Amino acid sequence: MYLQQLQLKQFRNYAEQTVDFCAPKTILVGDNAQGKSNVLEAIELLATLNSHRTHRDRELVQWGQAIAHIQGTVTRDAGPAELGMTFRQKARRTVAVNGQSLRRQLDGLGILNAVQFSSLDLDLVRGGPERRRAWLDGLLVQLEPVYAHVLQQYNRVLRQRNALLRAQAKRLRGEAVTGDRSTPLLPETDANTDNQALWDAQLAVAGARVIRRRSRALTLIAPHAQTWQQQMSNAQEMLQLTYCPNVPLPAEDAETKIPSQEIVQQAFLAAIRAKATAEYHQGMSLVGPHRDDISLEINGQPARQFGSQGQQRTVVLSLKLAELMTVESVIGEPPLLLLDDVLAELDLTRQDRLLSTIQDRFQTVITTTHLGAFDAGWRSGSQVLEVKEGALRSPSLS
Ligand SMILES: Nc1ncnc2c1ncn2[C@@H]1O[C@H](COP(=O)(O)OP(=O)(O)OP(=O)(O)O)[C@@H](O)[C@H]1O
Ligand SMILES: [Mg+2]
Repeated sequence: MYLQQLQLKQFRNYAEQTVDFCAPKTILVGDNAQGKSNVLEAIELLATLNSHRTHRDRELVQWGQAIAHIQGTVTRDAGPAELGMTFRQKARRTVAVNGQSLRRQLDGLGILNAVQFSSLDLDLVRGGPERRRAWLDGLLVQLEPVYAHVLQQYNRVLRQRNALLRAQAKRLRGEAVTGDRSTPLLPETDANTDNQALWDAQLAVAGARVIRRRSRALTLIAPHAQTWQQQMSNAQEMLQLTYCPNVPLPAEDAETKIPSQEIVQQAFLAAIRAKATAEYHQGMSLVGPHRDDISLEINGQPARQFGSQGQQRTVVLSLKLAELMTVESVIGEPPLLLLDDVLAELDLTRQDRLLSTIQDRFQTVITTTHLGAFDAGWRSGSQVLEVKEGALRSPSLS
Protein backbone atom coordinates (compact mmCIF):
# COMPACT_ATOMS: atom_id res chain seq x y z
CA MET A 1 0.00 0.00 0.00
CA TYR A 2 1.24 3.43 -0.88
CA LEU A 3 0.04 6.91 -0.04
CA GLN A 4 0.70 8.83 -3.21
CA GLN A 5 -0.70 12.18 -2.39
CA LEU A 6 -1.99 14.08 0.60
CA GLN A 7 -3.98 17.30 0.39
CA LEU A 8 -4.58 19.58 3.34
CA LYS A 9 -7.00 22.49 3.33
CA GLN A 10 -7.39 24.74 6.35
CA PHE A 11 -6.15 21.85 8.44
CA ARG A 12 -4.25 22.92 11.59
CA ASN A 13 -1.61 25.44 10.47
CA TYR A 14 -1.86 24.52 6.76
CA ALA A 15 -3.93 26.84 4.58
CA GLU A 16 -3.61 24.78 1.43
CA GLN A 17 -0.99 22.16 0.77
CA THR A 18 -0.50 19.23 -1.54
CA VAL A 19 2.20 16.66 -0.81
CA ASP A 20 3.24 14.16 -3.45
CA PHE A 21 5.11 11.27 -1.90
CA CYS A 22 7.66 10.30 -4.49
CA ALA A 23 9.94 7.97 -2.53
CA PRO A 24 9.30 5.13 -0.07
CA LYS A 25 10.75 7.34 2.64
CA THR A 26 9.87 10.95 3.27
CA ILE A 27 11.72 13.03 5.81
CA LEU A 28 9.95 16.13 7.10
CA VAL A 29 12.54 18.45 8.52
CA GLY A 30 11.88 21.71 10.33
CA ASP A 31 12.10 23.65 13.56
CA ASN A 32 9.68 23.17 16.41
CA ALA A 33 6.05 24.17 15.92
CA GLN A 34 6.23 24.44 12.11
CA GLY A 35 3.71 21.72 11.24
CA LYS A 36 5.60 18.42 10.98
CA SER A 37 3.41 16.46 13.38
CA ASN A 38 0.31 18.01 11.82
CA VAL A 39 1.10 16.17 8.56
CA LEU A 40 1.45 12.87 10.40
CA GLU A 41 -1.78 13.60 12.24
CA ALA A 42 -3.61 14.02 8.93
CA ILE A 43 -2.32 10.63 7.73
CA GLU A 44 -3.23 9.05 11.06
CA LEU A 45 -6.75 10.44 10.72
CA LEU A 46 -7.16 8.95 7.26
CA ALA A 47 -5.93 5.58 8.50
CA THR A 48 -7.74 5.33 11.82
CA LEU A 49 -10.34 8.13 11.76
CA ASN A 50 -8.76 9.14 15.05
CA SER A 51 -6.08 11.52 16.18
CA HIS A 52 -4.09 10.55 19.23
CA ARG A 53 -3.75 14.26 20.00
CA THR A 54 -7.39 15.27 20.17
CA HIS A 55 -10.94 13.99 20.11
CA ARG A 56 -12.33 17.39 19.16
CA ASP A 57 -12.68 17.99 15.44
CA ARG A 58 -12.84 21.74 15.90
CA GLU A 59 -9.19 21.75 17.02
CA LEU A 60 -8.24 20.37 13.60
CA VAL A 61 -9.82 23.26 11.76
CA GLN A 62 -7.49 26.16 11.09
CA TRP A 63 -8.15 28.98 13.51
CA GLY A 64 -10.67 31.45 12.14
CA GLN A 65 -12.01 28.98 9.57
CA ALA A 66 -15.20 26.92 9.62
CA ILE A 67 -14.11 23.82 7.72
CA ALA A 68 -11.00 21.72 7.22
CA HIS A 69 -10.51 19.09 4.56
CA ILE A 70 -7.92 16.38 4.15
CA GLN A 71 -7.62 13.92 1.31
CA GLY A 72 -5.36 11.01 0.54
CA THR A 73 -4.78 9.11 -2.68
CA VAL A 74 -3.87 5.55 -1.84
CA THR A 75 -2.77 2.73 -4.10
CA ARG A 76 -3.30 -0.77 -2.85
CA ASP A 77 -3.20 -4.25 -4.35
CA ALA A 78 -6.97 -4.00 -4.70
CA GLY A 79 -6.65 -0.77 -6.71
CA PRO A 80 -6.50 2.97 -6.03
CA ALA A 81 -8.77 4.81 -3.62
CA GLU A 82 -9.39 8.38 -2.62
CA LEU A 83 -10.16 8.94 1.00
CA GLY A 84 -11.39 12.31 2.22
CA MET A 85 -12.41 13.75 5.57
CA THR A 86 -14.07 17.08 6.28
CA PHE A 87 -13.98 18.56 9.78
CA ARG A 88 -16.21 21.36 10.90
CA GLN A 89 -16.14 23.89 13.71
CA LYS A 90 -19.75 23.40 14.55
CA ALA A 91 -20.99 20.23 12.94
CA ARG A 92 -20.15 16.58 12.52
CA ARG A 93 -17.37 15.44 10.25
CA THR A 94 -17.97 13.63 7.00
CA VAL A 95 -15.89 10.83 5.53
CA ALA A 96 -15.87 10.12 1.80
CA VAL A 97 -14.42 7.33 -0.30
CA ASN A 98 -13.88 8.04 -4.00
CA GLY A 99 -15.97 11.17 -3.66
CA GLN A 100 -18.94 9.36 -2.12
CA SER A 101 -19.89 10.47 1.36
CA LEU A 102 -20.19 7.46 3.69
CA ARG A 103 -23.37 6.89 5.63
CA ARG A 104 -21.43 4.87 8.20
CA GLN A 105 -18.14 6.65 8.77
CA LEU A 106 -16.50 3.55 10.18
CA ASP A 107 -16.70 2.08 6.68
CA GLY A 108 -13.82 4.40 5.84
CA LEU A 109 -11.52 2.22 7.95
CA GLY A 110 -9.23 -0.32 6.35
CA ILE A 111 -8.42 1.68 3.21
CA LEU A 112 -5.18 3.06 4.54
CA ASN A 113 -3.18 1.24 7.22
CA ALA A 114 -0.58 3.00 9.29
CA VAL A 115 1.45 2.38 12.40
CA GLN A 116 2.45 5.48 14.31
CA PHE A 117 5.42 5.76 16.60
CA SER A 118 6.09 8.90 18.61
CA SER A 119 7.86 9.83 21.83
CA LEU A 120 4.43 9.88 23.52
CA ASP A 121 4.33 6.13 23.07
CA LEU A 122 6.50 5.71 26.13
CA ASP A 123 3.15 6.01 27.89
CA LEU A 124 2.44 2.51 26.64
CA VAL A 125 4.80 1.27 29.31
CA ARG A 126 4.57 4.05 31.87
CA GLY A 127 0.97 5.11 31.56
CA GLY A 128 -2.23 3.63 32.92
CA PRO A 129 -4.17 0.66 31.52
CA GLU A 130 -6.37 2.91 29.34
CA ARG A 131 -3.32 3.79 27.28
CA ARG A 132 -2.58 0.11 26.58
CA ARG A 133 -6.23 -0.64 25.85
CA ALA A 134 -6.32 2.21 23.34
CA TRP A 135 -3.20 0.83 21.68
CA LEU A 136 -4.62 -2.68 21.41
CA ASP A 137 -7.96 -1.35 20.16
CA GLY A 138 -6.15 0.74 17.55
CA LEU A 139 -4.29 -2.32 16.36
CA LEU A 140 -7.51 -4.33 16.23
CA VAL A 141 -9.25 -1.73 14.11
CA GLN A 142 -6.43 -2.05 11.59
CA LEU A 143 -6.56 -5.84 11.65
CA GLU A 144 -10.32 -6.06 11.34
CA PRO A 145 -12.21 -2.78 10.82
CA VAL A 146 -15.44 -4.41 12.02
CA TYR A 147 -13.93 -4.24 15.50
CA ALA A 148 -14.69 -0.51 15.54
CA HIS A 149 -18.41 -1.41 15.49
CA VAL A 150 -17.93 -4.12 18.10
CA LEU A 151 -16.25 -1.68 20.46
CA GLN A 152 -18.75 1.08 19.76
CA GLN A 153 -21.59 -1.26 20.62
CA TYR A 154 -19.97 -2.33 23.87
CA ASN A 155 -19.42 1.29 24.88
CA ARG A 156 -23.03 2.14 24.10
CA VAL A 157 -24.36 -0.69 26.27
CA LEU A 158 -21.88 0.23 28.99
CA ARG A 159 -23.07 3.86 29.02
CA GLN A 160 -26.70 2.82 29.23
CA ARG A 161 -26.07 0.28 31.96
CA ASN A 162 -24.05 2.84 33.89
CA ALA A 163 -26.92 5.32 33.65
CA LEU A 164 -29.25 2.69 35.08
CA LEU A 165 -26.87 1.83 37.91
CA ARG A 166 -26.30 5.50 38.65
CA ALA A 167 -30.02 6.13 38.89
CA GLN A 168 -30.40 3.14 41.20
CA ALA A 169 -27.56 4.33 43.43
CA LYS A 170 -29.15 7.78 43.65
CA ARG A 171 -32.42 6.28 44.67
CA LEU A 172 -30.62 4.21 47.24
CA ARG A 173 -29.17 7.37 48.72
CA GLY A 174 -32.63 8.91 48.69
CA GLU A 175 -31.73 11.52 46.10
CA ALA A 176 -34.18 12.56 43.45
CA VAL A 177 -33.40 11.23 40.02
CA THR A 178 -33.79 13.68 37.17
CA GLY A 179 -37.09 13.07 35.44
CA ASP A 180 -38.20 10.79 38.24
CA ARG A 181 -38.66 13.13 41.19
CA SER A 182 -41.76 11.37 42.45
CA THR A 183 -39.92 8.25 43.60
CA PRO A 184 -37.03 9.20 45.85
CA LEU A 185 -36.63 5.66 47.11
CA LEU A 186 -37.71 3.14 44.58
CA PRO A 187 -38.35 -0.34 45.88
CA GLU A 188 -36.77 -3.26 44.05
CA THR A 189 -39.56 -4.22 41.67
CA ASP A 190 -39.74 -7.08 39.18
CA ALA A 191 -39.63 -4.56 36.35
CA ASN A 192 -36.37 -3.14 37.69
CA THR A 193 -34.82 -6.55 38.08
CA ASP A 194 -35.86 -7.58 34.57
CA ASN A 195 -34.45 -4.39 33.15
CA GLN A 196 -31.18 -4.94 34.94
CA ALA A 197 -30.94 -8.56 33.80
CA LEU A 198 -31.46 -7.41 30.24
CA TRP A 199 -28.61 -4.92 30.43
CA ASP A 200 -26.37 -7.48 32.14
CA ALA A 201 -26.97 -9.90 29.30
CA GLN A 202 -26.33 -7.27 26.64
CA LEU A 203 -23.14 -6.15 28.34
CA ALA A 204 -21.94 -9.74 28.54
CA VAL A 205 -22.65 -10.39 24.85
CA ALA A 206 -21.02 -7.18 23.61
CA GLY A 207 -18.18 -7.46 26.14
CA ALA A 208 -17.37 -11.06 25.26
CA ARG A 209 -16.90 -10.02 21.62
CA VAL A 210 -14.39 -7.37 22.69
CA ILE A 211 -12.58 -9.73 25.04
CA ARG A 212 -12.21 -12.51 22.50
CA ARG A 213 -10.89 -10.19 19.83
CA ARG A 214 -8.42 -8.53 22.18
CA SER A 215 -7.24 -11.91 23.29
CA ARG A 216 -6.75 -13.05 19.70
CA ALA A 217 -4.87 -9.89 18.72
CA LEU A 218 -2.48 -10.36 21.62
CA THR A 219 -1.71 -13.91 20.67
CA LEU A 220 -0.85 -12.61 17.19
CA ILE A 221 1.40 -9.77 18.27
CA ALA A 222 3.10 -11.20 21.37
CA PRO A 223 5.56 -13.51 19.56
CA HIS A 224 6.65 -10.68 17.23
CA ALA A 225 7.23 -8.36 20.19
CA GLN A 226 9.24 -11.03 21.94
CA THR A 227 11.46 -11.60 18.92
CA TRP A 228 12.17 -7.89 18.49
CA GLN A 229 12.99 -7.38 22.14
CA GLN A 230 15.43 -10.27 21.98
CA GLN A 231 17.07 -8.90 18.87
CA MET A 232 17.51 -5.47 20.33
CA SER A 233 18.82 -6.63 23.66
CA ASN A 234 21.26 -9.17 22.25
CA ALA A 235 19.08 -11.95 23.57
CA GLN A 236 19.37 -10.58 27.12
CA GLU A 237 15.75 -9.59 27.53
CA MET A 238 12.66 -11.71 27.35
CA LEU A 239 9.54 -9.61 26.80
CA GLN A 240 6.30 -11.19 27.96
CA LEU A 241 3.12 -9.57 26.68
CA THR A 242 0.02 -10.85 28.45
CA TYR A 243 -3.61 -9.95 28.13
CA CYS A 244 -5.15 -9.35 31.55
CA PRO A 245 -8.89 -9.33 31.03
CA ASN A 246 -10.93 -7.88 33.88
CA VAL A 247 -13.34 -10.80 33.50
CA PRO A 248 -11.43 -13.88 34.65
CA LEU A 249 -11.37 -16.26 31.70
CA PRO A 250 -11.54 -20.02 32.08
CA ALA A 251 -8.47 -22.04 31.17
CA GLU A 252 -7.64 -21.72 27.50
CA ASP A 253 -9.05 -24.17 25.08
CA ALA A 254 -6.08 -26.24 24.00
CA GLU A 255 -6.90 -25.98 20.31
CA THR A 256 -8.05 -22.42 19.65
CA LYS A 257 -6.46 -20.88 22.75
CA ILE A 258 -9.44 -18.53 22.99
CA PRO A 259 -12.59 -19.64 24.82
CA SER A 260 -15.85 -19.57 22.88
CA GLN A 261 -18.23 -16.59 22.89
CA GLU A 262 -20.64 -18.61 25.01
CA ILE A 263 -18.03 -19.46 27.64
CA VAL A 264 -16.78 -15.88 27.87
CA GLN A 265 -20.36 -14.61 28.25
CA GLN A 266 -20.96 -17.03 31.10
CA ALA A 267 -17.74 -15.97 32.80
CA PHE A 268 -18.79 -12.34 32.32
CA LEU A 269 -22.20 -12.90 33.91
CA ALA A 270 -20.62 -14.77 36.81
CA ALA A 271 -18.22 -11.86 37.37
CA ILE A 272 -21.13 -9.40 37.30
CA ARG A 273 -22.99 -11.47 39.89
CA ALA A 274 -19.92 -11.52 42.12
CA LYS A 275 -19.70 -7.71 41.99
CA ALA A 276 -23.46 -7.03 42.09
CA THR A 277 -23.51 -5.45 45.54
CA ALA A 278 -20.55 -3.19 44.86
CA GLU A 279 -22.00 -2.09 41.50
CA TYR A 280 -25.34 -1.39 43.15
CA HIS A 281 -23.77 0.85 45.78
CA GLN A 282 -21.17 2.56 43.59
CA GLY A 283 -23.60 3.06 40.74
CA MET A 284 -21.33 1.99 37.90
CA SER A 285 -20.22 -1.05 35.95
CA LEU A 286 -17.20 -2.55 37.67
CA VAL A 287 -16.84 -5.56 35.41
CA GLY A 288 -15.84 -5.72 31.76
CA PRO A 289 -13.23 -4.97 29.13
CA HIS A 290 -13.31 -1.24 29.96
CA ARG A 291 -11.12 -2.34 32.85
CA ASP A 292 -8.75 -4.66 30.96
CA ASP A 293 -5.00 -4.28 31.03
CA ILE A 294 -2.02 -5.72 29.20
CA SER A 295 0.97 -6.68 31.26
CA LEU A 296 4.47 -6.03 29.94
CA GLU A 297 7.21 -7.95 31.67
CA ILE A 298 10.93 -8.07 31.04
CA ASN A 299 12.55 -11.21 32.37
CA GLY A 300 9.57 -11.72 34.63
CA GLN A 301 9.51 -8.19 36.10
CA PRO A 302 6.93 -5.51 35.28
CA ALA A 303 8.56 -3.14 32.76
CA ARG A 304 6.64 -0.23 34.22
CA GLN A 305 8.19 -0.46 37.68
CA PHE A 306 11.53 -2.11 37.08
CA GLY A 307 12.51 -1.29 33.52
CA SER A 308 15.24 1.28 32.99
CA GLN A 309 14.44 4.17 30.66
CA GLY A 310 16.34 2.46 27.87
CA GLN A 311 14.57 -0.84 28.45
CA GLN A 312 11.22 0.88 28.43
CA ARG A 313 12.07 2.57 25.13
CA THR A 314 13.11 -0.77 23.70
CA VAL A 315 9.83 -2.30 24.79
CA VAL A 316 7.91 0.43 22.98
CA LEU A 317 10.04 0.00 19.87
CA SER A 318 9.49 -3.78 19.99
CA LEU A 319 5.75 -3.26 20.31
CA LYS A 320 5.69 -0.87 17.36
CA LEU A 321 7.77 -3.13 15.12
CA ALA A 322 5.59 -6.04 16.17
CA GLU A 323 2.53 -4.00 15.25
CA LEU A 324 4.01 -3.34 11.83
CA MET A 325 4.67 -7.04 11.24
CA THR A 326 1.26 -8.11 12.54
CA VAL A 327 -0.64 -5.64 10.36
CA GLU A 328 1.43 -6.63 7.36
CA SER A 329 0.82 -10.34 7.84
CA VAL A 330 -2.92 -9.99 8.48
CA ILE A 331 -3.64 -7.36 5.80
CA GLY A 332 -1.24 -8.90 3.30
CA GLU A 333 0.26 -5.49 2.45
CA PRO A 334 2.82 -3.42 4.33
CA PRO A 335 1.25 -0.55 6.27
CA LEU A 336 2.68 2.96 6.38
CA LEU A 337 5.00 3.81 9.20
CA LEU A 338 4.77 7.25 10.78
CA LEU A 339 7.74 8.14 12.93
CA ASP A 340 7.36 11.35 14.89
CA ASP A 341 10.67 12.55 16.24
CA VAL A 342 11.75 9.22 17.63
CA LEU A 343 15.19 8.69 16.17
CA ALA A 344 16.85 11.17 18.51
CA GLU A 345 15.60 9.17 21.45
CA LEU A 346 17.10 5.86 20.40
CA ASP A 347 20.72 4.84 20.77
CA LEU A 348 22.67 3.98 17.62
CA THR A 349 22.07 0.23 17.79
CA ARG A 350 18.34 0.71 18.07
CA GLN A 351 18.28 3.36 15.34
CA ASP A 352 20.12 0.93 13.06
CA ARG A 353 17.70 -1.88 13.83
CA LEU A 354 14.73 0.34 13.16
CA LEU A 355 16.08 1.79 9.94
CA SER A 356 17.29 -1.53 8.59
CA THR A 357 13.91 -3.10 9.34
CA ILE A 358 12.14 -0.38 7.43
CA GLN A 359 14.47 -0.28 4.41
CA ASP A 360 12.16 0.24 1.47
CA ARG A 361 9.68 -2.32 2.68
CA PHE A 362 7.40 0.13 4.48
CA GLN A 363 6.47 3.55 3.19
CA THR A 364 7.71 5.76 5.98
CA VAL A 365 7.08 9.37 6.85
CA ILE A 366 9.49 10.59 9.45
CA THR A 367 9.87 13.94 11.19
CA THR A 368 13.05 15.45 12.51
CA THR A 369 14.42 18.81 13.57
CA HIS A 370 17.79 18.11 11.96
CA LEU A 371 18.82 15.93 9.05
CA GLY A 372 22.06 15.01 10.78
CA ALA A 373 20.06 12.33 12.62
CA PHE A 374 20.15 10.21 9.45
CA ASP A 375 23.13 8.55 7.89
CA ALA A 376 23.98 9.54 4.34
CA GLY A 377 22.78 6.28 2.80
CA TRP A 378 19.38 6.65 4.30
CA ARG A 379 19.12 10.30 3.39
CA SER A 380 20.02 9.78 -0.24
CA GLY A 381 17.17 7.32 -0.78
CA SER A 382 14.64 9.63 0.82
CA GLN A 383 12.48 12.50 -0.24
CA VAL A 384 13.28 15.45 2.00
CA LEU A 385 10.70 18.17 2.59
CA GLU A 386 11.24 21.31 4.60
CA VAL A 387 8.43 22.37 6.87
CA LYS A 388 8.11 26.04 7.71
CA GLU A 389 5.13 27.89 9.12
CA GLY A 390 2.55 25.55 7.73
CA ALA A 391 4.08 25.07 4.29
CA LEU A 392 6.16 22.29 2.74
CA ARG A 393 8.79 22.67 0.10
CA SER A 394 11.64 20.71 -1.42
CA PRO A 395 15.01 22.06 -0.27
CA SER A 396 16.32 21.92 -3.85
CA LEU A 397 13.80 24.56 -4.88
CA SER A 398 14.80 26.96 -2.14
N1 LIG B 1 -6.22 24.59 14.52
C1 LIG B 1 -5.07 25.21 14.30
N2 LIG B 1 -5.01 26.29 13.50
C2 LIG B 1 -3.84 26.91 13.25
N3 LIG B 1 -2.67 26.52 13.76
C3 LIG B 1 -2.66 25.45 14.56
C4 LIG B 1 -3.84 24.74 14.86
N4 LIG B 1 -3.53 23.71 15.68
C5 LIG B 1 -2.21 23.78 15.88
N5 LIG B 1 -1.67 24.82 15.21
C6 LIG B 1 -0.27 25.24 15.15
O1 LIG B 1 0.50 24.20 14.58
C7 LIG B 1 1.80 24.27 15.11
C8 LIG B 1 2.26 22.94 15.66
O2 LIG B 1 2.48 22.13 14.61
P1 LIG B 1 3.17 20.71 14.86
O3 LIG B 1 2.71 20.10 16.12
O4 LIG B 1 2.97 19.96 13.60
O5 LIG B 1 4.66 21.19 15.04
P2 LIG B 1 5.99 20.35 14.80
O6 LIG B 1 6.64 20.86 13.57
O7 LIG B 1 5.70 18.91 14.87
O8 LIG B 1 6.84 20.83 16.04
P3 LIG B 1 7.76 19.99 17.07
O9 LIG B 1 9.09 19.87 16.43
O10 LIG B 1 7.80 20.91 18.23
O11 LIG B 1 7.10 18.71 17.36
C9 LIG B 1 1.80 25.23 16.27
O12 LIG B 1 2.45 26.38 15.88
C10 LIG B 1 0.34 25.46 16.52
O13 LIG B 1 0.11 26.75 16.98
MG1 LIG C 1 5.98 17.50 16.37
